[in-house]
Amino acid sequence: MFEQSTQGLGRDPETLFYEIAQDNEVIHIFKYHSLRVMFLSSMLAKRMDCYDEDLRIASMLHDIGKMGIAKNILLKTEELSELEFTIIQSHSHVGNVIVRKHLGLTRAARFIRDHHERWDGNGYPRRLLGDEATIQERIIAICDAFDTMTIDRRNYQKETLSYEDAVKELQRCSWTQFDGNLVNVFIGMIEEGIKIPEYMLQEL
Ligand SMILES: [Fe+2]
Ligand SMILES: [Fe+2]
Repeated sequence: MFEQSTQGLGRDPETLFYEIAQDNEVIHIFKYHSLRVMFLSSMLAKRMDCYDEDLRIASMLHDIGKMGIAKNILLKTEELSELEFTIIQSHSHVGNVIVRKHLGLTRAARFIRDHHERWDGNGYPRRLLGDEATIQERIIAICDAFDTMTIDRRNYQKETLSYEDAVKELQRCSWTQFDGNLVNVFIGMIEEGIKIPEYMLQEL
């Protein structure tokens, strides 16, 4: 009984990448994106006074549910078919299950499930509206989008945006995709100058 209740607990969240990913290329892509989203989310959460270990782990493992998806879908640069998009979207749910069952972190798992919700209620998987998504989930959504725009464009266009253009894009999506107040705080943070640690900036 003791064994069962502690199964999975105490495992290092970082090693999950290695346990789940199909190969090194997939690890390489997700590991550094994940570290940067963790770095940015932790910083923003500290400003909002809501930083804790669940936020840190959820931001690091937000895409852990993608690690087992077929590589030709994960790395596809052309537009995804409806079926492929459904498969990609499933990473919110899969990530939730992995972190809840494997690490026993129910609250962090919930943040992972809802990191693709949108302020206007058009996100997934639950179509939460406004602050029905927790502040932690809204923080991860902004930092995820910012990193994807500035560094990691694997599923979108090939070019990355400058910080300036990415900031404009966040502003454009305020109160539709993102919590506009959080966007303002995030932009303040970027304008003060942030230095992402070198080891998180590996090339794709
Ligand atoms: Fe995601
Ligand atoms: Fe992501």
